[in-house]
Amino acid sequence: MCGIIGYNGKQNAIPIIINGLKNLEYRGYDSAGIAYFYKDKIKIIKEKGRISELEKLLDNSESNIAIGHTRWATHGEPSRRNSHPHKVGNVTIVHNGIIENYATLKEKLEQVGYKFQSETDTEVAAAVIDYENKKEKDKLKVLEKIESILKGSYALLIIFQDEPNTIYALREGSPLIVAMNNDGNFIASDIPAILDYTKDYYLLEEKEIAVVKMDNIKFFKEGKEIQKELLTFKYDTSSAKKDGYPYFMLKEIYEQPKVIKNFLDYYLNNMELIPDIGKYHKIHIVACGSAYHAGLIGNYLLEEYGDVEVTTYVASEYRYKKNFLDSKTLVILISQSGETADTIASLRLAKEMRSKTLGIVNVLGSTIAREADEVIFINAGCEIAVATTKAYTLQVLTLSLIAFKLGLKKGITKEDKDELLKDYKNLPEEIEKMLELNYKPYAKKIAKKKNVFFIGRLIDYYISLEGSLKLKEISYIHSETYPAGELKHGTISLIEEGTPVVAIITDKKIASKTISNIKEVKARGAYTLVIKRKEIEVSNDIYDDLIEVENLSDLILSILTIIPLQLLAYHTADTLGYDIDKPRNLAKSVTVE
Ligand code: AGP
Ligand code: GLU
Repeated sequence: MCGIIGYNGKQNAIPIIINGLKNLEYRGYDSAGIAYFYKDKIKIIKEKGRISELEKLLDNSESNIAIGHTRWATHGEPSRRNSHPHKVGNVTIVHNGIIENYATLKEKLEQVGYKFQSETDTEVAAAVIDYENKKEKDKLKVLEKIESILKGSYALLIIFQDEPNTIYALREGSPLIVAMNNDGNFIASDIPAILDYTKDYYLLEEKEIAVVKMDNIKFFKEGKEIQKELLTFKYDTSSAKKDGYPYFMLKEIYEQPKVIKNFLDYYLNNMELIPDIGKYHKIHIVACGSAYHAGLIGNYLLEEYGDVEVTTYVASEYRYKKNFLDSKTLVILISQSGETADTIASLRLAKEMRSKTLGIVNVLGSTIAREADEVIFINAGCEIAVATTKAYTLQVLTLSLIAFKLGLKKGITKEDKDELLKDYKNLPEEIEKMLELNYKPYAKKIAKKKNVFFIGRLIDYYISLEGSLKLKEISYIHSETYPAGELKHGTISLIEEGTPVVAIITDKKIASKTISNIKEVKARGAYTLVIKRKEIEVSNDIYDDLIEVENLSDLILSILTIIPLQLLAYHTADTLGYDIDKPRNLAKSVTVE
């Protein structure tokens, strides 16, 4: 996905666009560009690389209307030629998403004389709009027709050479908000782009068109003007600022005690707001990446404490596999952004099959938040770092409370309940303690390695999956996770002198088995970093380094156990000198398939 921002107002648009793009850079950052009206002519400046590269090309021109884009390439390599904005004839656009039928459209347009400068699908969309605008002068009618021509996902900002006072916006599948303050109007992919200027915004919904002038905004749907509800961003804006931390990721890791305490204070006193999922015959959890890992932990906890069978799927598989969905199935969709394309598609499939859908989401107003039958907002605040941390732990905590509520119905005893409530309440403080430990020595050892293995069994395996993803996505070290019992079925052949193996042992039931597996890798020369529940005894010959976590209930302990793994990843990437918030090739939310 990418970052889009437009401004039309009394202020100089150019610094507003640049500042907005910087606040959106977490959404994609392989190239950036800006288009603005200057003396009634559209001027386009764009460049490969970060926004700082674009800034070097700017002069001190001023304009009241501009659109900007920071790209995450899908069609055509990152380059100046492929970066946005794209101009074709009378039309200049920036785009987030994928035009799936761009090849067919491109062929037809070339037959009527259009020539293309880039490899992007976006330039084709610009040409389609230009072509239709040659036949129909009413731009609203043109854009309504565009909605039936373009297939795939798009958030588009459009300016026309012959209409220098208006920005048009429309979307299908990719998010857009329209915001305002006393000086002017904004359109952006996400809230952080506009928080320096306003907290008041509209959500542009599918098939709606916004016509944004300097002093008014109009919305249209199917040719008719519509009224929309003005929303106000309710978090404090600090969550969109680094507040002195070197990286958003570190700030967000350290925010976990606070956001987890806020979440628990609210929901433990309002347990009626936690869904009772006991009435469903089948429960599926569907998500991508870290949200999928949170789902696997939730799956385990729901089965262990809620005594209900659950199956967890990667969304990009789920949406295409044969399904047996029905009205007695609950599909839980987990997504920080609420805009992940495969997770949205899985939600829509579940609804088509009349299954009930529950969204566990962070971004208010996101597609999943709006389309799921029921939503639990995790209230993590803005999560800017591409590598998720606080949203992941709140996703797990949400699933833990759902399992806890189910467990209370299925026989958790009063004393167990009191013990569990005590553990929940102690969690923020226990996280604080884990945050105070020094993980840098372990990071320095791992930073020198090319491969790292993570092992665990059952919930410890699921925790390891998330630890492994954190490490590889920001340090670029190849790491993989194995169920501890599985390693000896082949992969142990890769273990040699000094190979790092991070082993998780929190589940008392199977601790002895995992300990045996650690001995197997130790016997082959591995460097072992063991992260274990305090009360589980291990001999000191199975680890080179040891980290202990407090004896909290299994319902909660996985949230504490991920803290060392988050910081191990962070300090490893920092040791290697990488840009931790914006890892190469990645983007904060994958709104393309
Ligand atoms: C996690 O650190 C990654 N950023 C990625 O795996 C992410 O969890 C995944 O893309 C899902 O995003 P979502 O929660 O916004 O749907
Ligand atoms: N598909 C478009 C391109 O590759 C837009 C990608 C994006 O959302 O940044 O340029």
